[in-house]
Amino acid sequence: MNTFTTNWAEFDLNDPKFVANPYPVMAQLRLAGAPIWHDKMQMWLAPRHADASAVLRAKTLGRIFNPREPADIWETFNWLHADSILDSEPPKHTRLRSLVAKAFNRGQIDRLAPRINELVAQLISDCQQKLNETGSFDVIADYAEPLPVMVIAELLGVPIAEQDQLRPWSQAIVKMYEYGNTQDQQAAARAASYEFAALVSEMVEFRKKQPTTDLVTELALVEEAGEKLTLRELIATCVLLLNAGHEASVNGFGNGFVAAMQHPDAVAILRSNPREIAATAVEEFLRFDSPLQLFERTATAETNIGGITVEVGQKIAALLGSANRDESVFRNATVMDLTRDPNPQIGFGGGIHFCLGAPLARLELAASLPALFEAFPKLELAGNPVMRPTFVLRGYESIAVTA
Ligand code: HEM
Repeated sequence: MNTFTTNWAEFDLNDPKFVANPYPVMAQLRLAGAPIWHDKMQMWLAPRHADASAVLRAKTLGRIFNPREPADIWETFNWLHADSILDSEPPKHTRLRSLVAKAFNRGQIDRLAPRINELVAQLISDCQQKLNETGSFDVIADYAEPLPVMVIAELLGVPIAEQDQLRPWSQAIVKMYEYGNTQDQQAAARAASYEFAALVSEMVEFRKKQPTTDLVTELALVEEAGEKLTLRELIATCVLLLNAGHEASVNGFGNGFVAAMQHPDAVAILRSNPREIAATAVEEFLRFDSPLQLFERTATAETNIGGITVEVGQKIAALLGSANRDESVFRNATVMDLTRDPNPQIGFGGGIHFCLGAPLARLELAASLPALFEAFPKLELAGNPVMRPTFVLRGYESIAVTA
């Protein structure tokens, strides 16, 4: 019996007031003590840490991709999702994930540290130059964004001339993960899918003729062997890695940075001791204002989550940002504490879809965060940071700073 079938229709994910600060509403949602039914969205929402974690781990709750209609115009967008790691379930998910998992494990990723530090140093010097010339720079466009884009592009072997396209394409595609989008946004997502897939196809063809040691070559060889990977799966996997490989990292840095600048204790410690606290600060950045707020699952069998029953075919969403503010798990949950430890934040998800790029994201953030404050100990916000109007992928458009 679903005891908490409250009508929450008035709570709207697209309401600009909600997006500006969703946390008070989510604190109210947690008070229900169980997942709640959202009538307008026709899905359950799991705002508490235990329930959101259970949603991500339940074997009978899957990521089921619903192709968009009409199928002919959405064709590329549809297969880029249907054939990707993120939108598939076992056994396909196990097969696809195992093909790339090795490349993203901790040991492989740690080897990238020198290159990441080199890129960070280059970006710091670009920011310094901009500061000298204009008196300010943008933490998003000039610092947080270029690093993960360059790192994932290099890992997959995207030619430098094409790297500037990755963020705009990815931005266009991920607009479809929000609730309610315009015709123009849909057209842009279709065009971006097509262009993105075309670029990766070219890269694959090229690497088949001229193999190197990069991941695309490795996957292309698996595809040619013809047993474990189809061409579409190969392309969809590379596009996913390129997208997922930067989008949340940019927003994770920006969200945490703005929050830190608004917490005097956090700014003080970042100015005085950024390197020593980098590892715990990164976890707290992702906990305090999570860059990915909501992930849906669909029930393939009746599933009990926190006292409610998700019926077959019904959807339930894990609210990660809300779970990360759950007072029953995090003491002083509304306070940013960059030394918080332990910090069981679930910003990287959980269960079989747990973020494949977590070691890479952690490494990038732990390198770039202290470097910024070491280079600019007097860093200050210059004016109000500009937030994106979206809830699911939560982040800033720009963060002007001076130093
Ligand atoms: C701070 C940065 C990041 C955050 C917060 C983040 C968060 C997440 C989350 C929450 C999921 C699970 C989605 C679900 O359960 O439905 C996920 C999956 C994934 N992430 Fe990340 N991510 C980040 C960075 C990265 C990076 C750098 C990569 C680079 C490879 C990456 C690659 C992936 C992939 C491939 C998946 C799908 C895994 C699967 O379905 O098995 N992510 N990420």
